[in-house]
Amino acid sequence: MPAEALHPRYYTGHDLYEREQAAVFDRSWQLVCHESELAKPGDRLVATVGRHEAIVVRTEDGTLAAHRNVCRHRAARLVDGPGNAAAFRCPYHGWTYKLDGSLVGAPENRQFPCLDKEKLGLLPAKADVFLGFVFVSLDPDAVPLGEQAPEMEKRFGRYFAPGLYPITKYRIHQVAEAEVQRANWKVAADNYLEGYHVPVAHPALMRLLDYKRYSVEIDHAYALFEAPLREQPSANWLERLYQWSVTRMPGLTPDDDGIWRYLFLYPNTMLEMYPDMVLAWTIVPRAVDRVAVPGACYGRAGQGLRTRLAQRLNIRIGDITNDEDADLVARVQTGLATPGYEMGPLSQREGAVAWFADRIRSDLARSTLSEGELP
Ligand code: FES
Ligand SMILES: [Fe+2]
Repeated sequence: MPAEALHPRYYTGHDLYEREQAAVFDRSWQLVCHESELAKPGDRLVATVGRHEAIVVRTEDGTLAAHRNVCRHRAARLVDGPGNAAAFRCPYHGWTYKLDGSLVGAPENRQFPCLDKEKLGLLPAKADVFLGFVFVSLDPDAVPLGEQAPEMEKRFGRYFAPGLYPITKYRIHQVAEAEVQRANWKVAADNYLEGYHVPVAHPALMRLLDYKRYSVEIDHAYALFEAPLREQPSANWLERLYQWSVTRMPGLTPDDDGIWRYLFLYPNTMLEMYPDMVLAWTIVPRAVDRVAVPGACYGRAGQGLRTRLAQRLNIRIGDITNDEDADLVARVQTGLATPGYEMGPLSQREGAVAWFADRIRSDLARSTLSEGELP
């Protein structure tokens, strides 16, 4: 059977938008930050997990813990943003929790006829580190990403080894400050998952990348794209300057020099591997037709001026590409609202779009057996 795109209603229906919050976002791993951003005990930040939040914190014993961001007394949001403290103190009545989530105490605790501290720890979430990045899940049974994609550490761990640090002011967890695109989050994912539009929509990428050798590898947990850089100098001076200045970060191999790699982890994480930097970003649904795209770029200590120039140029080229994509996804979202519209066929270059559609359909089918027919 030919691979089928998702039915338009998956991108426009408010009912399906609600269902996928539970079916996809309450169950998957969501990208939060790089491990270096939670370096010391007490370092914490607030992670967006679908429509919910979690606190991710470095505990005293050096491990990462995650909790639901809600006080067990009367439901106040506990933590507002990044910071460092030895404990969590609720801003409403002052209940205080240890970093591991256990309740230390409540002010005037004799006023409570019975306060079973054992039972009133913060509600749990899960934290995990994969390729040096911190992920969080609300599902107690979430399979660690290292088990879902076990070969990734060996194949690409060199890009993500300790020593990465953010090179711009943006942070992945700052979702409220991130760019918002006018599309359903899956339109943005679909767009990322195929290179078929590159020759038409991204002239800069087309000059830089050898489109004929653009390859896609698909597994259950991920899609991996590899795009070799062209040898031939670009006609555009900015791109030519990138081609001249690009040098590999310490730890990479000569084989990494001429290639851009993009790793998409289901459902919404992108880890991009360039010779000169790493870019990590995510697509966060904000409404059925709005998506935020927070992300951050990382470099490595010990890189020279030339690599830093390459990073700036790479970021500039990425911004141009991103603006082109923002326009494309808004165009698709508008079109999807056409009454009676049916999706056309997918090309072989869109295999990862089909893979993503299959995973979405199966996640929704599993969780919504009692909630009626899916399109
Ligand atoms: S709601 Fe947190 S202490 Fe009352
Ligand atoms: Fe694109």
